[in-house]
Parts: sequence; C-alpha cells; structure tokens
Amino acid sequence: MKLMQIAGAGVFAVMIAGGASTASAQQNKVVELYKSPYCGCCGAWGDHMKAAGFEIKEHNIEDLNPIKAKYGVADDLQSCHTAIIDGHVIEGHVPAQDIAKLLAEGGEKSGLAVPGMPAGSPGMEQGGMSEPYQVIRFSKTERSVFAQH
Ligand code: CU
Ligand code: CU
Repeated sequence: MKLMQIAGAGVFAVMIAGGASTASAQQNKVVELYKSPYCGCCGAWGDHMKAAGFEIKEHNIEDLNPIKAKYGVADDLQSCHTAIIDGHVIEGHVPAQDIAKLLAEGGEKSGLAVPGMPAGSPGMEQGGMSEPYQVIRFSKTERSVFAQH
C-alpha cells in the first residue's frame, strides 16, 4: 500500500510538470465571445479558436452595439462578433495565430480587428473564395497594421 502511494504521487508530479511545460499561453485563457445567435460565421470562428487550443465561452446576444461601444471598437473597425481575451478586444475574424502572438508579447492591452468579413479569413472560408486582408492593432489613440494576410 505504501509503495502504491509513492508511485501514485510520482505519476501525479510528472503530470503536473508535463502540463506546465507543454501548455501554451492561450490554453489557459478563456475567450469571452459575444455573437449574434443568427450568425453562422461567428460560430465558425469560435471553432477555429477552439482548434487552436483556446477555450471559448459563448454569449449569444441580439444587439452587439453596446458591447462594441463598451470596448471601444470604432465603427470602421467593426465586424460581426466581438471577443475579449485576457483584457484584449478581438473584433471579427482575426486568425488565432495573430492572437497568440499578441498574447505572447504581453504589455499594453491593445485590441486586434479584422474589419468587415473578408472572404477566406478564419470562419469565412465558405465558398472557397479568399481576398487579402489586414489585422489592425488598435487602442483608443493609436492604430497600426499588425498582420497582413
Ligand atoms: Cu462574420
Ligand atoms: Cu461572426
């Protein structure tokens, strides 16, 4: 019995160590996803995020305007859904790789936006078309191009 307990504790310790070394930053972060209950592409973006290891908490709401206003998403940056992750605002069909890059940087809590709904962005693959688009990094006072796809 004593031997089994020691073995059990050993396995447990190994599991903790393994988890800590292999878990990437995004796997510990919950994404609060505010979306319309009628919009299919928002759910498709959520699936893209889940596939990348993020945990998604969905909030289906009829009117997203108060959410966009609350988090400072200007009219020309808006898309269908708004997500909050670790204090960052993610607007629209932003690729998970760009969000992971933003989170890895740490620092200032700026947002990322893909305005509109460009064909071929994550969750917008329907129809097999794709168009070039930019991921815009934004805060209240500044904007820059974070990524080009
Ligand atoms: Cu969309
Ligand atoms: Cu959407």
